[in-house]
Amino acid sequence: MTQSHDLSSIIEALVRPGKGILAADESGPTIAKRFTAIGVESTPENRRAYRSLLLSTPGLGEFVSGVILYEETLGQCKEDGEPLPALAARQGIVPGIKVDTGKGPLALAPGDEITQGLDGLPARLQAYVKLGARFAKWRAVYNVSDSLPSRAAIEANAESLARYAAICQTEGVVPIVEPEVLIDGDHSQARCAAVTQEVLLEVFRALHRHRVALEHMLLKPSMVVPGKAHVRPAGPGDVADETLRVLRRTVPAAVPGIVFLSGGQSPVEATVNLDALNRLALQPWRLSFSYGRALQDPVLQAWRGQPDQVQAAQAALLKRARLNALASLGCYDT
Ligand code: 13P
Repeated sequence: MTQSHDLSSIIEALVRPGKGILAADESGPTIAKRFTAIGVESTPENRRAYRSLLLSTPGLGEFVSGVILYEETLGQCKEDGEPLPALAARQGIVPGIKVDTGKGPLALAPGDEITQGLDGLPARLQAYVKLGARFAKWRAVYNVSDSLPSRAAIEANAESLARYAAICQTEGVVPIVEPEVLIDGDHSQARCAAVTQEVLLEVFRALHRHRVALEHMLLKPSMVVPGKAHVRPAGPGDVADETLRVLRRTVPAAVPGIVFLSGGQSPVEATVNLDALNRLALQPWRLSFSYGRALQDPVLQAWRGQPDQVQAAQAALLKRARLNALASLGCYDT
């Protein structure tokens, strides 16, 4: 393994107490969906304007330690010509990059999905580093039902996540390992807990097999929540207890930080649940956020593509970032 000193300092910057990560790495189809909902056309110029708005939010670096970008954004500039990764760095925010190339059906496993993107990854990472990226993200997704995910899906996605993480560390890039147990469906919280436990056990087995240094990676899991269509939603106390029970059973203490995805929770739910997690007894890992929708939904609603709404949109981002930063310390006050 190379450059372990650099990896340590990147990790240190990312897990600073009272900070979390902004996930702004929506792929082309996903950002188009978000823009359509607010009546904005997804053009390269609109995407550039929107992501410039996010990154130039005054004071964002006080609450956000890192930002995950999409490949296109890594090469885009602010109106004044400053590259967007440089703008992030100037705010004290470490630029990162989504490196998986999306998911598709897992062959012969109906309902299961597999994430792609390992081919050519070393060369792509070298190019991303030149553009300023210091960490990366790879997302695996697991659909939940009585019979899903299959063992084949759990093993195949764990193997890909581990191979990705090993390649990142070889290239001097910190890997964020993101296994997302999806919230869609009517499954119970207990079913989510069982699936999450099996998934995380397999992910860490694969990371070990591929010699990934746990000290030099971050885990980005989903919280243990019932399916969106389940009859009984879970309160923050239940979410925190169940999530922590599964994490304690599966995530080695050598992992420096666990940064949750919001995964379809509302912005307020995501904050309240993170706060509840951080109010429980002291944990071996830093527990913070790496939210996409839970940070950006209010921003998109405020912006709606209107140049005169940029300040209001930035205020909405700063507010959610500040509240989640408080929640990462267990100090959020409703
Ligand atoms: P959400 O917080 O919207 O789930 O997005 C996080 C993310 O990075 C998904 O890959």
